Amino acid sequence: MSDLNKLIIFDTTLRDGEQSPGASMTRDEKIRIAKALEKMRVDVIEAGFPIASPGDFEAVQGVARTIKNSTVCGLARALEKDIDRAGEALKEASSGRIHTFIATSPIHMEQKLRMTPDQVVEQAVSAVKRARRFTDDVEFSAEDAGRSDIDFLCRIFEQVIEAGATTINVPDTVGYNLPGQFGNTIRLLMERIPNADRAIFSVHCHNDLGLAVANSLAAVANGARQVECTINGLGERAGNAALEEIVMAVRTRRDQFQCDTGLDTTQIVHCSRMVSGITGFPVQPNKAIVGANAFAHEAGIHQDGVLKSRETYEIMRAEDVGWSRNRMVLGKHSGRNAFRVRLQELGMQFESEEELNDAFRRFKELADKKHEIFDDDLQALVNDAGFSAENERIKLVSLRVCSETGETPEATVVLTLDGSEQADTATGGGPVDATFRAIESIVQTGSRLELYSVNAITSGTDAQGEVTVRVQKGGRIVNGQGADTDIVIASAKAYVNAFNKLLQKEEREHPQQPSV
Ligand code: KIV
Ligand code: ZN
Repeated sequence: MSDLNKLIIFDTTLRDGEQSPGASMTRDEKIRIAKALEKMRVDVIEAGFPIASPGDFEAVQGVARTIKNSTVCGLARALEKDIDRAGEALKEASSGRIHTFIATSPIHMEQKLRMTPDQVVEQAVSAVKRARRFTDDVEFSAEDAGRSDIDFLCRIFEQVIEAGATTINVPDTVGYNLPGQFGNTIRLLMERIPNADRAIFSVHCHNDLGLAVANSLAAVANGARQVECTINGLGERAGNAALEEIVMAVRTRRDQFQCDTGLDTTQIVHCSRMVSGITGFPVQPNKAIVGANAFAHEAGIHQDGVLKSRETYEIMRAEDVGWSRNRMVLGKHSGRNAFRVRLQELGMQFESEEELNDAFRRFKELADKKHEIFDDDLQALVNDAGFSAENERIKLVSLRVCSETGETPEATVVLTLDGSEQADTATGGGPVDATFRAIESIVQTGSRLELYSVNAITSGTDAQGEVTVRVQKGGRIVNGQGADTDIVIASAKAYVNAFNKLLQKEEREHPQQPSV
């Protein structure tokens, strides 16, 4: 593929994706996701916003140290302190990029920055120059470009390219644009900026009107050669363009695009599930590419057609994006090696023998309760191990629930809280309610439950239930997930998982709010 035909995939799940309320990730979770993205051959991984907090800095640094085959990027406002912090976090990266930005729309310049256009250009140019002290790979974004004046964009982009920016990103920050209009903007910018050929043009679209993917594709059709996107379309508000949709649209409709990505698309479903598991954001069943129904043919006429010739109703092959046939893979008598090999086939790897042993122990426990273990069960099991790996101040020791017709359900929960065992009993409207009350009465977070959802991972009454909860305290939102064949236990695990996240207090700065 020549450079002109290569579409660079810039994944911002770990940065913009993390800006979804409740989607915060720990350093180790970010490293796990980054490894999966690297395996999928994502070109650039935006790992975070290093100045935001010590935790964010360590996460970017950890990803930069670990990843060898993708470029690792850190976000920085057009401020010296941000750029220096990003440069420091990326010091050990095999290939590091600093992504600096400043707002360019009249409303942002006047109301948020309280700066004149001239001051904005000056600050952008000095930010790019400063970033070039750390790396040759510098990206500049004009925040809210989608509502900015095109003449001003031409002016600022020309000057930052002159100052050394190698990627020019055009974000539709508030998801306001329409495909025809946005594609046109990209074409005009590339035609009118005299030194446009010295930079890659990139887009970053938000999904407020459900147009993030359509706008990104319109930009690609008009010459953009980098798309910023996230797994499952995670991101601020309605999210960003979904990586899986961009990649598969460009690949499936090669006839319409003069470019392609270098991604290993068979890793898509695995990455989607990992991100969903870690963040606690479930994937809707009818979500394109990665939803449970994306390749399911319900209507008899469709099934008949697909059996005769797949192309009658399928434009992509499920295997090409990593859907397995969900066959029964292992059972009670399967050994450790068979377990490890199947997980490797599914794209899951363990850091250490200890992690493998722990997952294998969980597998044996599950196999005792459930005869047939499917690929989806294995994925949930690995996610479940990930949930409890790090910074776990609370651990679920045991749970006993009494639920009887005509009686008030009662739950007794035993937890360890910072190593010391504590128990409590509570009653509630149902067994889950009683369990949650007992957990809260031990941990006393003072939080409010905002969302509770259960999803059966496979079919059958012995299926594992995957529970997602969202809790809120003082404006801070966290999600938790847990899986088990017993949905009350799965619920307890999810609640404890959310509380563990809530207890990791860290003040973070939001990149798009003014600095204090
Ligand atoms: O949406 C946006 O404008 C951003 C920038 C920081 C690129 O996320
Ligand atoms: Zn964004």
